Amino acid sequence: MSTLPPSQAPVTVVGLGLMGQALAAAFLAKGHPTTVWNRSAGKSDELVANGATLADSVKSAVEASPLVVICVSDYDAVHGLLDPVGSSLASRTLVNLTTASSTQARETAQWAAKLDITYLDGAILALPQAIGSAEATLLYSGPKVAFEQHQATLQVLGEAATIYLDEDHGLSALYDMSVLSIMWGVLNSFLHAAALLETANVKATTFAELATTAINVTAEYASAYAQQIDEGEYPATDATVNVHVGGMTHLLEESQALGVNTELPRFFLELAKRAVADGDAENSYAALIKQFRKPAA
Ligand SMILES: NC(=O)c1ccc[n+]([C@@H]2O[C@H](COP(=O)([O-])OP(=O)(O)OC[C@H]3O[C@@H](n4cnc5c(N)ncnc54)[C@H](OP(=O)(O)O)[C@@H]3O)[C@@H](O)[C@H]2O)c1
Repeated sequence: MSTLPPSQAPVTVVGLGLMGQALAAAFLAKGHPTTVWNRSAGKSDELVANGATLADSVKSAVEASPLVVICVSDYDAVHGLLDPVGSSLASRTLVNLTTASSTQARETAQWAAKLDITYLDGAILALPQAIGSAEATLLYSGPKVAFEQHQATLQVLGEAATIYLDEDHGLSALYDMSVLSIMWGVLNSFLHAAALLETANVKATTFAELATTAINVTAEYASAYAQQIDEGEYPATDATVNVHVGGMTHLLEESQALGVNTELPRFFLELAKRAVADGDAENSYAALIKQFRKPAA
C-alpha cells in the first residue's frame, strides 16, 4: 500500500452531502490528492475548484485511491453504491463513516471480508463545520493495522480526537448510539424544563445559564456512577433511589398541574419505582442500570 508521505496519500470520498463535502474539503486542505463522486451532480463544484478530481463513476472513484471513504445517508445507500464495484475495492481500505447500528457495521464487515476489502467502520461525533478542527471527534473500529496505516490521513478529519476503539467493527457505531442517547436524554430534559418555566413567563434564554450548570453538575456523576456500575455495588453516598422517587413524584405532579407534557417525568418515576420493587430503594441512582439492562416491561 501507499508509502507516500501522509500529506500526499491519495484518498477518495464517495458521497458529497453536507458531511461528505466537509470530509473531502478537509483532505484537500491538507494537500491530499482527493477524488470525489456523488450521485447527484453539482455538489462537487466547489471541491473541484479547490483541486479535487471528479470521477465519472463509483468504479473509477474507488479505483483512484488505496483509501476510500464513504459517507452517505444510510447503509442501504452504501451497499447500493459499493456492491456493484466490490471487486474494484479488493485490497483497498474502505472507511465507512455513514451512521449505522453496530449490527449493520458488523454485517458490512463480513461483506467486505468476503471481497478481500480491508474495512474500517467509523462514526463522526461532529457537525460538518467542525470537520478538520480540534472540535471534531471521530471513532474507528476494525483492524488496528489498517487504522495505523491510514491514521495520518484520517487524522486530518479530527485533528485532536481521532480515536481507534477496537477490532470489533461494531464498536464505533455502538459508541455513536450511546453518545446520541446521552445527547437526546439531556436535550429532552432541557426542553421539558424550559416548558415548565415558560408557564411562569421565564424565558429559555434566562434559564440557559442555570440549565448549563445543572447539566455540568449532572455530568460529574458519570465517573462516580460508572465505577459503581462496573463494581456492581451501589452505595448511596449522595441520595437513595427512594429520595429520587419523592422528587420525581413532585416533578410529575408539577407537570400535570401546569399542563405541560408528562411523558418524561412519568417515565422517570416508573423506572425508579421498578428499581424500588426490585430491592434498590436504599441504593444509589446508579442501581437503575439494572432496569436499562433489560427490555422494557
Ligand atoms: N450532518 C451531520 O451533522 C452529521 C453528523 C454526524 C454524522 N453524520 C452522518 O453522515 C452521513 C451523511 O450525512 P449528511 O449530513 O452528509 O447527509 P446529506 O447532506 O443528506 O447527504 C446524503 C448523501 O447521501 C447520498 N445518498 C443518499 N441516498 C443515496 C443513494 N440511494 N444512492 C447514492 N447516494 C445516496 C446523497 O446523494 P445525493 O446528493 O445524490 O442526494 C448525499 O451525498 C449520515 O449517515 C449522517 O448520519 C452527519
